[in-house]
Amino acid sequence: MHLFDTFCQRGLTLRNRIVMSPMCQYSAREDGTITDWHLVHYGARAVGGVGAIIVEMSQVAPEGRLSPGDVGIWDDAQVPGLRHLVEFVHAYGAKIGIQLGHAGRKADPVYDAVGPSAIAFSDHYRVPEALDLAGIASIRDAYVAAARRADAAGFDFVELHGAHGYLLHQFLSPLSNQRTDGYGGDLKGRQRLMLEVAEDVRSALPEEKPVWARLSMHEIGAPGGYQVADTLAVAKELRLRGVDLIDCSTGGNAQTAEDETPGFRLPLSAAVRAAGVPAMPVGCMDHAALADAAVLSGQADLVCIARGLLRDPHWALRAERELDLAATPPRQYRRAYL
Ligand SMILES: Cc1cc2nc3c(=O)[nH]c(=O)nc-3n(C[C@H](O)[C@H](O)[C@H](O)COP(=O)(O)O)c2cc1C
Repeated sequence: MHLFDTFCQRGLTLRNRIVMSPMCQYSAREDGTITDWHLVHYGARAVGGVGAIIVEMSQVAPEGRLSPGDVGIWDDAQVPGLRHLVEFVHAYGAKIGIQLGHAGRKADPVYDAVGPSAIAFSDHYRVPEALDLAGIASIRDAYVAAARRADAAGFDFVELHGAHGYLLHQFLSPLSNQRTDGYGGDLKGRQRLMLEVAEDVRSALPEEKPVWARLSMHEIGAPGGYQVADTLAVAKELRLRGVDLIDCSTGGNAQTAEDETPGFRLPLSAAVRAAGVPAMPVGCMDHAALADAAVLSGQADLVCIARGLLRDPHWALRAERELDLAATPPRQYRRAYL
């Protein structure tokens, strides 16, 4: 398999294996509805040839926002704008999913933060209120309602944000989860909310629509954090609950520095694939030869690119040429590729 081979999963077919990573734009209206910025931003990457776009972390609850400019999916009134975005992107040949998130203790301090335990991320954040069982149930309900809205808007798939120190990651990590009930303690307890949300969201969506999950695969550099062996176990449990792909990231739940070496998360996606779960690395993958080799060598099913696509919305078209393939620009741009 090559980077420019199609990718099929459930009812989803991508024209190639390049995925635009979710990236918050902080450009929604305060009611969480999207703006023209989102149409231009995502539309340009669809024109630029990516296989799939994952819309930025979109909040399942208003208090889960990182900023008042976050995209929301907590209200039915947010659906029409999202539906327009989906149709817009589809018109240019890309498929589109949406990342469902909740910032938990990393919410903007103007909102009431919640989390697994009353432990602040840092001095700049509020001490979250530890969720009680009713609060956890309402988080699950919020994810289900958000998944239904994503489906109603026509999204092709959803991604659960279980990384970067946000709520589901906060539950997974012993750094932020010191609960003594069934949602804390050992890995079985700490992964419980993630697995329940995955199961709930899976059953809220039609069978043909994939569910992906982004995980921070380890907490290296944070003493007491979890290890890759833990997330490989979580990935297998997620797979059993119908999650179709793990988007492999790292970090975010402690103030640690991240690597910036090209392909540094490839060993993580390779390990997830070796465990029998489809996987996609994210992080410094914006080199055409590296991305192609990742797919060809079986270390990745898909390749996820963030900043490279901010720098160049036509990254995919450029990669196609760099790999000596016939470029497939939109009709309007063909003269630039003769
Ligand atoms: C402006 C910006 C916003 C981001 N917002 C999100 C987000 O909404 N959800 C997420 O999972 N990651 C987010 N990230 C992280 C990226 O998706 C990606 O994981 C990271 O930038 C590493 O990939 P890269 O080396 O290709 O940039 C963001 C990154 C940037 C630069």
